[in-house]
Order: sequence, then structure tokens, then C-alpha cells
Amino acid sequence: MSEKPSAVQHLAIIMDGNGRWAQRRDLERTAGHKAGADNVLRIMQACRELGIKYLTLYAFSTENWKRPAAEVGALMKLLHDFIFHKLPDLQKENVRLNAIGRLDALPDAARLALLGAIKATRNNTGGVLTLALNYGGRAELTDAAKKLAQDVKQGKIAVEDVTEDTLKSYLYDPELPDPELVIRTSGELRISNFLLWQMAYSELYISDVMWPDFDKKELQKALDSFGSRNRRFGGIAAK
Ligand code: FPP
Repeated sequence: MSEKPSAVQHLAIIMDGNGRWAQRRDLERTAGHKAGADNVLRIMQACRELGIKYLTLYAFSTENWKRPAAEVGALMKLLHDFIFHKLPDLQKENVRLNAIGRLDALPDAARLALLGAIKATRNNTGGVLTLALNYGGRAELTDAAKKLAQDVKQGKIAVEDVTEDTLKSYLYDPELPDPELVIRTSGELRISNFLLWQMAYSELYISDVMWPDFDKKELQKALDSFGSRNRRFGGIAAK
């Protein structure tokens, strides 16, 4: 089985390079994160214009807590401020805000703003912006396995009935389609614990551009690359 790539419905991005963007300008790393946060809406709007319905952004990983407390605090404040200031734009664009990750562990101010904005935008139909926050692919699979094990223990599901679809239904957002395309900015060649289940057959695109500078033109390059690929999903190429 082989097929030409259809248009990208779900794009996921590892927004890397904020720190280097700042260092090259002799700025604090947090200034890079601020510039990165400012780029989120621009790329979301570009996605809307290009017909991409789902945009998922890796905003804070389960491993990012290892960073200095001041940087973690600045990232959480940015998240809070992003929601506070950009909620009207999300509403205007008819975009639904969504989040995946261990959200309970986020600081109260950020978590409450996030949950409020998710609720306020829940009926929007123009696109879905999913923020991966305190997210790790291994954490997601561990959390799914725990919930599934509980349900087996309580007799809600029999072990022999567990399929791939069953496990998928325990992920943070089972409704989210798998991303056809995953972009990582800043040139690093790693997946970094992002969407491990969902990106099993995603196409990867690495851009050398730092996230704050990643614009619609760069996004179009990634989509052009995607369009030239032959997705085989484990099968063989069509004649
Ligand atoms: C990686 O760059 C980026 C992050 C760990 C955080 C991404 C966060 C944002 C873009 C801003 C907050 C997001 C929202 C939605 C408000 P890095 O710091 O690892 O860069 P480096 O590799 O150059 O050091």
C-alpha cells in the first residue's frame, strides 16, 4: 500500500532554538522564549490560511523542569500571559484551544488561565491549537497504561480485548488525529519525547531556522517537502 501524501490536516511542531536565537542577539534566553511565544499566533494564522486544521506545539516537556527555576518561571508566566492576551484573537479566529500533558502539575495561575481559555473556546470550529504542556510521550503512555490497568482490575475491560485502539483511547486526547507532518526547528535531529505514539508514521521535517524566525515561508517549504514524499506506511511503493 502506498499513497501520495494528502494535504496536512495535523501539523505538530517542536519549537526549538529560542535560547540560541536570544544568545546570538546578546539577549537573555527568556527574551528568546518571549519572541517564540509571539510567533505562536503568527504560525497558527498561517496554518489557518494553508488549510491546516490541527496545530500541536511542544511548549513545555516533562524534562524542561530541569532548567533553572527562573527560566521555568518565565516560561510559565509566558504561558499565562499568552492566554490572557491572545484569547480574544483565538476567539476572533474561531480557534479551539486544547492542551495535552500532566496539566495538574502546572502552577495554579497558568493552569487556571489555560483551563478557562479551553472552556471559553470549546465551541470554536475554525481550527484546534493544542499546547503540549508538562508533556512527555513516555509520561503519556505510562498514564494511559495506568488507567487501562485500573479498568482491567475493575473488570471494565478484559485483557484479551485490549487492542491498539483501546490503548489509543486512553491517551490525553484520543480525538486528536495523528500528525501527518512533524517539524522541528533549529536543526536538531531529535524527537525529544514528543508524541511517541502519534508520530509512528509522521513525516519529519527539520528546519535550520530558529523558532522565533520560523515564518509562513519556512512553513510552506516544509509543506512542499511533505508534498514530494511517498508515504508507504510499512508497505511498498506504488508502480
Ligand atoms: C526550546 O528552545 C523551547 C522551549 C523549551 C519552550 C518553547 C516555549 C515557547 C515557544 C514559549 C511559550 C509558549 C507558549 C505557547 C506561550 P530552547 O530554549 O531549548 O532553545 P535552545 O535549544 O536554543 O537553547
